[in-house]
Formats: sequence, C-alpha cells, structure tokens
Amino acid sequence: MNVNARETGWSPAERVRGMGESVFTEMTELARRTGAVNLGQGVPELDGPRPLLEEVAAAVLAGANQYPPAYGFPALREAVAAHQRRRYGLEYAPQGEVLVTTGATEAIAAALMALCDPGDEVLAFDPCYDAYPAVARFAGARLVPVPLAEENAGGTGGGTGGESGGGTPGFALDLDALRAAVTGRTRVLILNSPHNPTGKVFTAAELAAIAEFCRERDLTVVTDEVYEHLVYDDATHRTIAALPGMRERTLTISSAGKTFNVTGWKVGWVCGPARLVAAVAAAKQFLTYASGTPYQEALARALGGVEEWAGELRRTLRRNRDLLSEGLTRAGLRPYRAEAGYFLQADIRAWGHADGVRFCRELPLRAGVVAIPTSAFLLAPDAPSHLVRFSFCRREKSVVEAVEKLIAAA
Ligand SMILES: Cc1ncc(COP(=O)(O)O)c(C=O)c1O
Repeated sequence: MNVNARETGWSPAERVRGMGESVFTEMTELARRTGAVNLGQGVPELDGPRPLLEEVAAAVLAGANQYPPAYGFPALREAVAAHQRRRYGLEYAPQGEVLVTTGATEAIAAALMALCDPGDEVLAFDPCYDAYPAVARFAGARLVPVPLAEENAGGTGGGTGGESGGGTPGFALDLDALRAAVTGRTRVLILNSPHNPTGKVFTAAELAAIAEFCRERDLTVVTDEVYEHLVYDDATHRTIAALPGMRERTLTISSAGKTFNVTGWKVGWVCGPARLVAAVAAAKQFLTYASGTPYQEALARALGGVEEWAGELRRTLRRNRDLLSEGLTRAGLRPYRAEAGYFLQADIRAWGHADGVRFCRELPLRAGVVAIPTSAFLLAPDAPSHLVRFSFCRREKSVVEAVEKLIAAA
C-alpha cells in the first residue's frame, strides 16, 4: 500500500509521505507472481549456524523472555567490546560505551535523532542504503548526497584510492565532491564500509582522507559496518574509528544479521564515546526500549568465535559472487567489482537499456530473474541509472539457475 491515500482526502504526515510501496516490494511481488529467481532483496537463503539456533531455542525454554537491560544484555556488551578490541585494537567500556539495538537500522535511526536538530545536514555517499534518507527525514535532517566516482565505467569517473581494479569497473571516493557538499549546517557524515549497494570497501587512503576532512570540519561520523566480516579477496575492512582523533567523534554500528546469516533477529549494536552513546540510548529507549533477549544471550556466546563461522560464510558468498560475476559477463551484462557484502552491480547498457527500473520490471518476463535497480539507492535525482543490483546471498543452485537464465535470454 502506498502512503498517500489522496482519494480519501486524508493525508499522512510529511515524514512518511511518498514512502510506502518501494521497488523492493514491487520486485519481490514480481518474483512471486512470475516464479522468477529472486536475486533482488538481500535476504539470505541459507540459515545461521545450527549451534547458535539451538542456543536461542534453549534460551527461550530457559526463560530468557523478558526485557533485557536497556543498554543490552551485559554479556553481549562485553562480547562486542572484546570483538572491537580483538579486531581493531579499540577499547570500549561495556558499561556506557556499547549499546545493543534492534538491528543496525535502529542504531542508525537513533543516532541521527540523537545528533541532528531539524535543518541539520548529514553527508552520505551516493548510492547508499535506502534507510539513510528515511531516518534522516524522521530526524528532521537533510541527507546530502556525495556521489561516489565510477572507475573504469566506459570512460566516466575518476576518483581516488582504488586498491584493486584491473579494468573492472568500481567506485571510489571523490574528495572534491565531499568538500563541495559540506555547509555550515553539516553535522554528521554517514560512512558505510563495506558498502551497500556497491560492494565497495573503502581503502586506507580513502578512510584517512575522510577522517582528516571530518576532523577539519568537526563532523561526527556514523559508520555502518554491518558487512565487516564479509570481505573477499585482498580487500581489508578497516574501521575509521581507529584512525587518529576519530574514536572520540565516531559511532560505530554493526549487527549480527549479516555476520551470522540471521537477518530476522535484528540484533545490532553501537560503540562510541560515552557522551555520544548516551545520547543514542536516550532516543533508542523510546523507540523500542530493548528487544530480543534470547538472541542477545545466544549471540553473547557466539561473537567470541565469529571468525570461524564468518570464514565459512565468506567462502560460500565469494563462490556465489564469482559464479554470478562470470555469468553476468557471459550474458553481456558488465559486472562491477564487489569486494564485500551480498551484492553485485551490473551495467545493463549492452542489452539496449539505459533505465534500470524498466529493465528490472522486464527482466522477470524476459529472463526469469529478479534484480533491483541501483536507482533505488541513489539520492541525487539526476544520477545515472544504468546499473542494477543482483544479490548473491542465495543458495548456489539459485545463483547458477539465475545465471543460466540470463545467458539464455542474452
Ligand atoms: C548497509 C546496511 N546497513 C544496515 C542494514 C540493516 O541491518 P539490520 O538488519 O541489522 O537492521 C542493512 C541491511 O540490508 C544494510 O545493507
């Protein structure tokens, strides 16, 4: 249902107007109606690790069914702090500097509510995860796009800092675009690395440049790192909070959903200096207060051994990515570099299309496959729309089936 309801004469509040049915809903419905292979939304087809699922079931039966503390189950906060120390050398106090949230999405929403006054501006690299503009709007803030530069994309682009490349198109930081986007009202920069929808991992040089810019302009950074464990090949995920002078101005957000293949559990967390985390907690307590007690209990134990599980998941996803990338190439749809995460972009122009939305509406009928137009993640209205996003967090057989169909339809 679209949130407009003009025919009844009733109008919803401005902050939700025009939201409602998205291209994601439309494509999921198209997949259902046509029986097409769904490489649209990033919903994993595989389940989380069996021992973790059993721990949750046991926790439920053992009575872990009431509200957890507002900041989250203490053992999970300790496990998150230990994780940040082990992986990034960052110290956070489990009491006061770690807050458990209802998924990363709530953490992002509460962070913007905590940091922005109405009229404030928030910088976000474009394209971006589609929750960012929505939650910025809820906070009364304006999300300002900072376009990522396309590299090797048929003569367009430029940018700085690509670590790999070798002719495969990808995305890079455009420092001039970042400098041009800042104003006296800018309060926050949202960084998402590894990045959805591009699969980009920001390089050390790019992070250093962003950090310097944020220190110079006195910006707070909200960094969304939900794909931190799903990084492939030679790419390395680094957290901006570990750079000089950044811990004190950064809220680092992650979540169990992607790492453990349990996206429906919606357990996320945010780490940062106590004054920032306290402000996020103030907003969060009146959004959900707290949630997911049995999940929190089970994840507190699982997070210590995350590297082993994530290693296995990475191998599965990387293989799927390679199958998809090779298949798209054979189908004539030029794939972009995907160094991390669940998604791969492809250029549709070789199939005679310039508009990703039209292409995605036709694709289920033409090829029996569902994808999402990258324009769904673009903030700038005149941004190019010749890219579509395919998800590879599916069973290998689904990826193979999709690829065969695309090649047959080429
Ligand atoms: C970049 C990014 N951030 C956050 C989320 C949502 O995380 P959660 O399910 O933990 O709210 C997603 C999910 O697709 C995502 O891609």
